[in-house]
Amino acid sequence: MKERLQQLQEEALSELRQAQDLKELQDVRVQVLGKKGSLTEVMKGMRDLSSDQRPLIGSLVNTLKNLFEDSFASRQLELQQQDIAAKLASEKIDVTLPGRRAMSGSLHPVTLVTDEVNEIFSRLGFAVAEGPEIEQDFYNFEALNIPKDHPARDMQDTFYISDDRVLRTHTSPVQIRTMLKHEPPIRIIAPGTVYRRDSDITHSPMFHQVEGFLVDEKVTFGDLKGILTHFLNEFFGDGHAVRFRPSFFPFTEPSAEVDIECVICGGDGCRVCGKTGWLEILGCGMIDPAVFDSVNYDADKFSGFAFGMGLERMAMLKYGVNDLRLFFENDLRFLKQF
Ligand code: DAH
Repeated sequence: MKERLQQLQEEALSELRQAQDLKELQDVRVQVLGKKGSLTEVMKGMRDLSSDQRPLIGSLVNTLKNLFEDSFASRQLELQQQDIAAKLASEKIDVTLPGRRAMSGSLHPVTLVTDEVNEIFSRLGFAVAEGPEIEQDFYNFEALNIPKDHPARDMQDTFYISDDRVLRTHTSPVQIRTMLKHEPPIRIIAPGTVYRRDSDITHSPMFHQVEGFLVDEKVTFGDLKGILTHFLNEFFGDGHAVRFRPSFFPFTEPSAEVDIECVICGGDGCRVCGKTGWLEILGCGMIDPAVFDSVNYDADKFSGFAFGMGLERMAMLKYGVNDLRLFFENDLRFLKQF
């Protein structure tokens, strides 16, 4: 019996030492002191011992039991400390690492272009005005000399909200709203979102325009040419030739389209300018007397000019962007470049 106890002690203590974590350690305890544990078995066998042997073995068993408990406790402490140390090591915070930078946004290229157009015209004494995107037929069409049967009103081009309301197809209605509220002299620049039922590589159903107009006494086509030429030189940089081509708009007479010498190829002819060497930039003209009539301005006393241009197109040319859709996809890899 003594030898059995001796052997049991060696085994139990070595098992304790080998336990690698608290769970294994607990298992060893069950193996030794559990209901069917090795030491428990020994204790059960004691009733078969003779009465003179029992006290002796009893005290050996007790000693072993105490020894086991002590070793168990100290191994347990050791493993617990190991656990804490491992946890501390894995959760260690390196306070010397640089912080994560908050990502800062940037202005959308169309916003940048809008701001720049506004700025250039502000320096010329123009004020910024805005109008609603849901617009009444009167402002969007009628007062701009676009009668009911005009092809520009076609269902194919215009988003109708009701018989009388549309998503504005251009920023020109701001002309009407402003002139109905103010008397000349007026110098206004009006950027904003416009809508058309058009969607392909070069057209988006939602895009941006800027409208400009000036009304005063004795305003001439020469003033228009001077201001727009100045603007284009400021916006694209000096040295690009500018030309005015006769054109037609219902709300201006005479009307013109303005081309600038291709800012990509310098006029030699490339893919962007369709080998012509010229880029069509904006529409303009002298405000039609019929428009003055609809806002009750005296067309004999006042004259004025107006112009309108697409801001996405300006941004494409200024930044060399070749696909209109990039402006609306909000891909950060694109937007971050501005
Ligand atoms: N509203 C025209 C368009 O959407 C652009 C335009 C052309 C505006 C000539 C004007 C102008 O003020 O005079 O195509």
